[in-house]
Amino acid sequence: MTDSGCLPSVGAMVEATAEDLAAAGVEMPRLEAQLLVAQVLGWSRLQVMTRPEHRIVEEYEEALGRLSSARRRRAPLAYLIGRREFYGFEFSVGPGVLAPRPETELLVDLALEEARRRGAVRMADVCTGSGCVAVALAAALPGSRVLATDVSQAALACAARNAAEQGVSGRVGLVRGHLALPLRSGWAEILVANPPYVPSSVASALQPEVACYEPWLALDGGASGLAIFEELALGARRALEPGGLFASEIGYDQGAAAITLLRDAGFADIVIVRDLAGLDRVVTGRA
Ligand SMILES: C[S@@+](CC[C@H](N)C(=O)[O-])C[C@H]1O[C@@H](n2cnc3c(N)ncnc32)[C@H](O)[C@@H]1O
Repeated sequence: MTDSGCLPSVGAMVEATAEDLAAAGVEMPRLEAQLLVAQVLGWSRLQVMTRPEHRIVEEYEEALGRLSSARRRRAPLAYLIGRREFYGFEFSVGPGVLAPRPETELLVDLALEEARRRGAVRMADVCTGSGCVAVALAAALPGSRVLATDVSQAALACAARNAAEQGVSGRVGLVRGHLALPLRSGWAEILVANPPYVPSSVASALQPEVACYEPWLALDGGASGLAIFEELALGARRALEPGGLFASEIGYDQGAAAITLLRDAGFADIVIVRDLAGLDRVVTGRA
C-alpha cells in the first residue's frame, strides 16, 4: 500500500505546474495550473483552490505532466481542457475550431439589445465556428430562431454539439456554406458575424497558441484583413430585411475602412463600437 504522505498534494502540484508554465512564457500560469489540475482530477477550480492538502495518486500526476508539457509547447488551454467559457456558458472546443474570445461577447450584447428592443426573432450568425454566438443568442431569447453558417465541417459539428449541450438544437439551424449565401433574401432581422479579419502579413506575429494551433481559415482576412468582410457586407445587406441590423466584429484598427465598405454595400446608420480598451471592436449598420 502506498503511504499517502509520500504522494504530492494538490497545492504542490499547482505550484510546480505554475512555475513550469511561467518559465515557458504562459501569461497567467497560476490560473492555468489550477485549471489543468482541475481537469485531471475532474474537479472544479474552486475545489482545487480550497483543498490544497489533498494528496493525488501517481496516474493523475502523469496525466498532469502530459497536459502541462503540451501547454508549455503552447497548445491552447481551451484545446487541452476541451472547453471555453463564453457569455456564461461552457462551450466544447477542440482542434480545428477557433476557441471563443471574451471580446466577442460585445457582439452578443449588441444583438440582444436590438432583439429585445424590437422583439426580433429571426437571427443569423455567419461564420459561426463553435456556435458560441448563435447558441448564446438562442439561449438568451427563448422565442428566437438562429440560422448559423460556416464553411468548416469541423466547426459545424462543434456548433451542433454546443447547441445540443445548451438545449437549443431545435432553434439553431446549422448550414454549411459561404458567408451569408445560404440565407434567403430579406429573411434576417438581425445578422451578426465574427468573420476572419487578420491581415495575412500579421500571421507570423500572432501568439504561438494562435499561429501554431488555431485554424488559419478562421483568421485569415486576406492582404488587407477585410477581404472577407467586404463580401460579407454585401451578402448581409441582401439577407437582412429593410431596417435590419448588421453587426460584425472587426480588427482594432479597421473601423474607418469598415465604415466605407458598409456604406458601399448600402448600409445606413453605421456605428463603430469600441471595447473597454477604446479599440475598434464591432461595426454596426442598418439595411
Ligand atoms: C473568427 S472565427 C469565428 C468563430 C465564432 N463565431 C467565434 O466568434 O468564436 C471565423 C469562422 O469563419 C469561418 N469561415 C471562414 N471563411 C468562411 C466563409 N467564406 N464562409 C463561412 N464561414 C467561413 C471559419 O471556419 C471560422 O469558423
